[in-house]
Amino acid sequence: MDEGDDYRAAARALADADVAAALTGAGVSTESGVPDFRSEGGVWDEYDERDFTIARFQRDPDAFWTDWLDLQEGLIPDDVEPNPAHESLAALEEAGLLDAVITQNVDGLHQDAGSRTVVEIHGSGARASCRGCGASFDAAVARERAREAGGAPACENCGDVLKPDAVLFGERLPDAPLRGARRWADESEAFLVVGSSLTVEPAASLPRRAADGATLVEVNTESTTASSLAAYTFREKAGEAIPELASAAVELQG
Ligand code: APR
Repeated sequence: MDEGDDYRAAARALADADVAAALTGAGVSTESGVPDFRSEGGVWDEYDERDFTIARFQRDPDAFWTDWLDLQEGLIPDDVEPNPAHESLAALEEAGLLDAVITQNVDGLHQDAGSRTVVEIHGSGARASCRGCGASFDAAVARERAREAGGAPACENCGDVLKPDAVLFGERLPDAPLRGARRWADESEAFLVVGSSLTVEPAASLPRRAADGATLVEVNTESTTASSLAAYTFREKAGEAIPELASAAVELQG
């Protein structure tokens, strides 16, 4: 069987599924210039993940924000754009072949590409919230205020500190997105897993949960815990494999 046959078979599973969802991780955004976390040269090569825990934020919000700004400015380019992987996932949804994207990413690139049902299980990098009164602020505004303050930005309503809406290590995941992600995993008949090392729970368990009733398709440059459960595995870049898969699925549909 050549690779084209695998693409067609995986596309067939997508086209035949009444419910289909995708789980994405940082690997879906590397081709947009955003580094992933655990590859060589990834975020945790440059930074210490212990600096980004909720415990540290609570203990020393000024030091946390200094490191947070450093990480954002040092690693994430200003003009990030979706790449063909994000665009093809959005095209699959538009064609009625994908119901939801569950993402661990906080970069907003799925939404920028046009995906409408995006379940952000690790929160969002676009906003920051006040720990005291809950007021919500644009993340860029919060970062600007942190720069000016040389530490944690204060809420303009109540003066308490702001926290990025991205989920920190040790922090509870937002309930509704997690429930939604589990429901999509349970109900899916086809489930794509794209660009995640699957090392962080509870996201890491979603493919196992989905594999109970769904055909699992993995796109990742390296092997993961989902690989042995997957009916189809593409050891390729997401920006190449997802467009191929999407165009085969749309063709079958048509
Ligand atoms: N195409 C396909 N796979 C890729 C690509 C690419 N272009 N680039 C990288 N990968 C793969 C890597 O080989 C790796 O297996 O994507 C995976 C990325 O894994 P991680 O860096 O661990 O990212 P992720 O799984 O999203 O991390 C989960 O950890 O630190 C936390 O909160 C952070 O949400 C993040 C969570």
